[in-house]
Order: sequence, then C-alpha cells, then structure tokens
Amino acid sequence: MRARGREVLDLAESNPTRCGFRYDRKAILPALARPAALEYHPDPRGMRSARQAVAEYYRRRGSGAASLRIGPERILLTASTSEAYSFVLRLLCAPGDQVLVPSPSYPLFEFLAGLNDVELVPYTLVYDHGWQIDLHSLQSGITSRSRAVVVVNPNNPTGSFVKRPEVGALNALCANHGLALVADEVFLDYAHDGRVRPSLAANRDVLTFALSGLSKISALPQMKAAWMVVNGPKSEVQRALARLEVIADTYLSVNTPVQLALPALLAQRRAMQGQIRRRMAANRRELAKQLASHPACRVLESEGGWYALLRVPVTSSDERLALDLLRKRGVLVHPGHFYGLAGEGHLVLSLIVPEGRFREGLRRVMAAAG
Ligand SMILES: Cc1ncc(COP(=O)(O)O)c(C=O)c1O
Repeated sequence: MRARGREVLDLAESNPTRCGFRYDRKAILPALARPAALEYHPDPRGMRSARQAVAEYYRRRGSGAASLRIGPERILLTASTSEAYSFVLRLLCAPGDQVLVPSPSYPLFEFLAGLNDVELVPYTLVYDHGWQIDLHSLQSGITSRSRAVVVVNPNNPTGSFVKRPEVGALNALCANHGLALVADEVFLDYAHDGRVRPSLAANRDVLTFALSGLSKISALPQMKAAWMVVNGPKSEVQRALARLEVIADTYLSVNTPVQLALPALLAQRRAMQGQIRRRMAANRRELAKQLASHPACRVLESEGGWYALLRVPVTSSDERLALDLLRKRGVLVHPGHFYGLAGEGHLVLSLIVPEGRFREGLRRVMAAAG
C-alpha cells in the first residue's frame, strides 16, 4: 500500500527512532567517536568500563530494595537482547531440550528457539483481575528435557509484571526441577504508575539470567548493545559465566565504539524514558476517552510496557479484522494471534506512536470494530 502511495497510519510502530522523540545528538554522537575506538582490546564479557556502567544502572534504578549492587563480573554484554537469549539457550540446552515460555508473549521466541534447536513449551498467562501466571499450566509443561523457564517482566504485550508471590513459586519450581530462570526485563523501567519495580537480576535462589539492553531502556535499538546479569547459587553462577565466556569469545560481537559510549548512552535513559512515559500517558488518556463512547470495546488491564491490548467484539478473526483495518481504513495494528492470544477479538496497539497519529488511527479502529 505504501509503495502505491497510500497513507498508512501505523499503530503497531514500536521502533522509538521513528516516533518523533528528541534525541540528544550532542551527547550521543561524540560519545561514539572517541579516539580509543581505534584500538581493539577484546574482552569476551565486554569492556569492564561498559559493564560498570550497567552495574551503575541497576544501582541507581531506585532506592531501598530497588537499588541493586551487582558486581561487573556477573555482567556479560551482548549485541542485543535477542543475542543474549541465544547465548543462554546455547549454554543451557542440547538440541531437543525444552524451555518454558509464557503465552501470550513475544513472538520472537519461536525463531530464537528454532535457530538454537530448542523446543518451546508454552505456559499460560490468564486474565483474571489482571494477568497472572497459570502455575498449574507451567508445572504440567515440565518434562525431563526442560532446562529453563522464561518470564518477560513486564510481559509484551500484556504489560504484566511478575508478582512477588509468583517469584517465590517460580523459584520453588525451578529449584525442584533443576531449571534456570530467564527474565527478559527490556521494559522493566516502563511501569504506568511510575513505581520502580525490582529487577529479577537480584534473584539468588536459582540460577537466573536477567536480560536487558539499550533498545528500550534508552530507546536506542540501533546501537545494538544489551547485557545479561547472572545470579544464583555461587558455584552455578561461576560455571555458567565461564561457559558463557567461551560462547561470547567465539563471536566478540559487541563493537568497541558502542562499549566506550555505553555510560553516555545509558545516561540518555532519563530523558528518553521521560518522553516515552509522557507519550504513553497521553495515548492512554486518549484511549480511555474514545472507549467511553464505544462501550463494546475495552482495554485490558496493564501495568507497564509499550503496548495496549484492545478487546473488540468478535465479528471475524483478528487476522481478518487487522487486514480490513489496513485495506479499508489505512490503519496498521497487530492481530492478537501474533502474540499467541487465545481466541479472537484482540488487537495490539503500540502506545509510543505520536499522539496525533494515535488519536486518528484509534478513531478509525473504533469506527470499524466498536
Ligand atoms: C520482550 C522483548 N524482548 C526483547 C526484545 C528485543 O530486544 P533487542 O532489541 O535488545 O534484541 C524486544 C523487542 O521488541 C521485546 O519486546
């Protein structure tokens, strides 16, 4: 449609560099052009100064329990969170081994697991006064080939954080079955109520890998810099780090300029998260306003992240509805099945798109679906 010159209002856009945010060029660009970028001193875990900057991020996320002291020796840099997933799967799994993943959730799991010859076993998140992990479904998915449980904190697209009692249950389950916990926390700083949520990087009860990166934390996905924090029983952590070092050493994929710039790029998070939070708050208000005159539609409860899950009357499949919205109304949204949402009647909208586009796109969605 675009190639034919038709306007498309993209309400699925989640690339922050295309959403009209202001980036501080004067701070970002010189940080990438440091003279030391002309030298090469590879460290498989990533430069210590860059890992120190990540440690500082966890220390300064909040006060009290939210402020975490993590030694840089427990941090390993990767080129993306996706690469971090890949390294963890390589570390934990032999071909044919299984990993438990939430459903609905992030669609890339399928590709990451497939490329690493790992089988995915979904466990259910249920919507009942907010989203919760169906622990029975998680438990019943465990087999002798299970190696890890993945949680997305907060989950994409449901926006649900892992609750404290759920962490207790996950730890008990992982300890009983010898499983590792993999926590994807790329959206951790985006709680709608502004409260700082604790990171699972603090989890010591079982072998835990907490994954995050610049793509959401500083809204800089193009920099290709991410990390994992390894925590848990000391001997397991040391064994895991030693092996991860071999995996990372094979690729040495994180480039020098970005590692040198990491402290400056991480410092951008304050300005970027402020802009993104204000944008999301405005779009959520607009959503509430338009929903007030379309009682057949509603938005599902969400605590954080960058997405809204819209429940609409089921008149056709989500796929059909999304295609009709695109062809007849020029609005792009994601159908719920992209994320494994059970049943029909779900559309996923990005909350970071510019306000004017969101307002008009939503108006067209409501006119068609509501
Ligand atoms: C839940 C989740 N994890 C990871 C990523 C990817 O992060 P990265 O760009 O660091 O690979 C995304 C990107 O949208 C995501 O939604």
